[in-house]
Amino acid sequence: MNQPTTPLTNPPTNPPSKTPDTDAEAVFSVRDLWKVFGPKADRVPADPELGALDAAELRERTGCTAAVRDVSFDVRKGEVFVVMGLSGSGKSTLVRCLTRLIEPTSGTISIDGEDVLSMDTGRLRELRRHRAAMVFQHFGLLPHRTVLDNIAYGLEIQGVGRGERRERAAEFVAKVGLDGMEHRRPSQLSGGQQQRVGLARALAVDPEVLLFDEPFSALDPLIRRDMQEEVVRLHREEGRTMVFITHDLNEALKLGDRIALMRDGRIVQLGTPEEIVGAPADDYVRDFVRDVPREQVLTVRSAMRPALIGESEAGPALAPGATVHEAIEAVARTGENARVVEDGRCVGVVDHAGLLGVVAGVPAATGKAVA
Ligand SMILES: Nc1ncnc2c1ncn2[C@@H]1O[C@H](COP(=O)(O)OP(=O)(O)O)[C@@H](O)[C@H]1O
Ligand SMILES: [Mg+2]
Repeated sequence: MNQPTTPLTNPPTNPPSKTPDTDAEAVFSVRDLWKVFGPKADRVPADPELGALDAAELRERTGCTAAVRDVSFDVRKGEVFVVMGLSGSGKSTLVRCLTRLIEPTSGTISIDGEDVLSMDTGRLRELRRHRAAMVFQHFGLLPHRTVLDNIAYGLEIQGVGRGERRERAAEFVAKVGLDGMEHRRPSQLSGGQQQRVGLARALAVDPEVLLFDEPFSALDPLIRRDMQEEVVRLHREEGRTMVFITHDLNEALKLGDRIALMRDGRIVQLGTPEEIVGAPADDYVRDFVRDVPREQVLTVRSAMRPALIGESEAGPALAPGATVHEAIEAVARTGENARVVEDGRCVGVVDHAGLLGVVAGVPAATGKAVA
């Protein structure tokens, strides 16, 4: 019998989403951002009393809607940063503010340290075309053009010559799995294939950041899953920074390195999928993630305890990033406790009690609720 031990790691804690320190690796850095629609919008962020009103009261008192309220975050280089929230929570407004497709009411935004709010028209155009390209839900394919020319279109706007843009476009035809369809027109493609064309077009201009506003929400579930896997694959192969908006929790958990969960214009929690599911910041988030299969999101780090003498040699070995689901499989298959091994060193052990505890939301050692 194993003795009860203190868990090696504490339940994950969340970085405060209010005023994070600027991240050295930040591509976008956003601080105290507000977007208020309506008359004399700038008095709302300036007046704490107005800023604290809920949506209905604010509308009644001022005729204004605060779509984004005092939001701060960094998008790190190479990550998929997901903005998730129900319809109307402010996601589209937030992501459009990043490149000033919507003009923020107050706050600061920088990209690679450069102030976005002081950019002139030319610099902004450069930002939108080359540095942070937006992929919309309806990709806006040109019906009379072929797949190849649709993919090349973004390059054409950039002024890239015909030969070079066709060559670059052809490369991306292959990358998104549309080989052999170069000369078809959009109407000769399925919905999923059309999405791939849009994706290839955005990728071909080689932006530093791709901004997706719910690109897959109109697709049926199988095609949608296909496209999600495509994004995961492209991200793995290219390591491109992405900001991905979705109202779908499963999509967020699948794609996001980190997730900002929005409610009524605010970020209520910012963290990894594991942090959001394992340690919800409040009842709203807890309710949001209630039905998530915890064992598929949480890793063995949340389930392990220190190894006892002799334990670090025996049993199946797992990486620290292995899911609890994978650990359950390994333990069930071998009938032994599993070792968590990092850089050749055993950093902990997962046993039945620890695994059951995580699935139930209760750490085995203390009987205290994690979530
Ligand atoms: N141009 C606008 N004028 C007034 N209100 C707007 C405008 N655009 C968005 N809103 C309001 O701002 C809030 C957030 O909208 P939006 O950013 O589109 O949310 P989401 O993308 O999460 O569905 C909503 O209440 C919406 O009605
Ligand atoms: Mg939206």
